[in-house]
Amino acid sequence: MHLFIKNISQLVTIAADGKVAKSGPEMRELGIISDAGVLCREGKIAWVGPMSSWRQLLLDDVPELDARGTVVLPGFVDSHTHMMFAGSREEEFGLRARGSTYRQIAEGGGGILSTVRHVRSASKKELKRSTLRYMNAMMRHGTTTVEIKSGYGLDFDSEIKMLEAINELKNEEMMTVVPTFIGAHAVPPEFSAEPGKYIDLIINTMLPYVGKKRLAAFCDVFCEKGYFGLEESERILLEGKRWGMAPKVHAEELSPLGGAGLAAKVGAASADHLEHISGDGIQALAASHVIAALLPGVSFFLHHGYAPARKLIDGGAAVCIASDFNPGSCMSFSIPLMMTIACTQMSMTPEEAIVAATLNGAAALNMSASIGSVEVGKNADLIVADIPDYRFLAYHFGTNHIVKTIKNGTILEF
Ligand code: NIG
Ligand code: FE
Repeated sequence: MHLFIKNISQLVTIAADGKVAKSGPEMRELGIISDAGVLCREGKIAWVGPMSSWRQLLLDDVPELDARGTVVLPGFVDSHTHMMFAGSREEEFGLRARGSTYRQIAEGGGGILSTVRHVRSASKKELKRSTLRYMNAMMRHGTTTVEIKSGYGLDFDSEIKMLEAINELKNEEMMTVVPTFIGAHAVPPEFSAEPGKYIDLIINTMLPYVGKKRLAAFCDVFCEKGYFGLEESERILLEGKRWGMAPKVHAEELSPLGGAGLAAKVGAASADHLEHISGDGIQALAASHVIAALLPGVSFFLHHGYAPARKLIDGGAAVCIASDFNPGSCMSFSIPLMMTIACTQMSMTPEEAIVAATLNGAAALNMSASIGSVEVGKNADLIVADIPDYRFLAYHFGTNHIVKTIKNGTILEF
C-alpha cells in the first residue's frame, strides 16, 4: 500500500535519530517540519521532508492525501491498559465522589475483584466483542498500538481465556495489540487465607503455560501493600523473564514500597504509576533503561496525588504517558486527555507530553525500532489532526481533533 501525504502544515517527526527513547531535555525536541510531505510504501515510511525538496521521481500512481491546514504526528502508543473487562464500576465512581478511597472500596470487596467476578463468568467471545468496540474508538482518537493486560481472571482458566482473547484480537483490527500477563494483579478470594499458594500457582502453572504458548510479551505485577510485596514480585518477574516475558511493574501507586528500584533491578521495560516514588526511586530509574510510565488519568479519576513528572524528567529519566484504561481507576482511553492532565497537573510541557505518548510509549513496549516516530524505515502509523498547531492537542481539550488514522500506510475507514 502506497500513500503520499502532502502539504502537511506541521509534521511532528519526533526525530528519534535511532534513539530507543528520549530522556531529560531531549523530550522537548519534536523535530517539526513545516509544509512537509511523507511517503508511505508497503506499510513503511519511505521519505520524509519539506515539500520544497520533494521530487516526484517514478511515483505517478501513488494515491495522495492533501493535509493542508493539519498537523500530522506518529500514532499514539498506549503502553498500559486493562481494557479487556466485563461489567462496570460506576457505583465506585459515585462512592469516591462522596469521600470513599480506592483502597477502602477494594477492601470492601469492590475494586479489581469486582471486575474479576464479571470476567470469570464472561465468554471469550463477549470479552473480545467489548474490547473490539473500544479498540475501534481508540483508533479514531489516534491510538495505533495498544498494550492489553490480563489480570481480571486470577485463576488458570480465566487468565488464559483473557490472554487467548487478547491474542485473537491481533487479527481482527488494524491496531497493533501487545498482550501482557498480570496474574499477580490481586490475590483472588479463594486464596485470601494463603496468598503464597496463589503465587505458587502463578509460578508453577500459569507462567509455564503462558510462556510455552507465547501468549504474552510482558509479565507485570501489582507491587503494593495488600497485593504483592517486593520479594514476591521479584520472584514472579524473574520467572516470567525465564519464560520469555519482559518484566513490567505497577510500582509506587498507593504507597512508596520500592517497586521502581525493583524495576531497575530486574531490567523491566517500564515502571508504571509512580505516584509515590521516592528520591532514590527516581535516581534508580534515571540511571537505568527502564521507562517511567506515568498514568495521569488515574490520579485525576481517583482524586490521588500525581506522579512527580518534573522531577523524573529533570532527573534524566525517560517518561512515557499511557491511559491505564480500565473500569476502576481510569475509565478513559483518550491519550490527548492524558496529555492535557500531564500538562495542567504535572507540569509537563506539550512537547514532553507528545514524546511521552509516542516514542517513549513505544520504548515501554520494546517497539521503538519500528514505531513511535515519523522516520524512514519505521511503520507508517500516522495521525492527522485538524488543528493549527501541535499544542492544540493538549490545549484544546475535551474534543477529538483526529480526522484520519493511518495504519501501516492505509487510511482507516470507520
Ligand atoms: O493500574 N493498580 C492496579 N491495577 C489497575 C486498576 C485496575 C482496577 O481497578 O480494575 C491500575 O490502576
Ligand atoms: Fe494498571
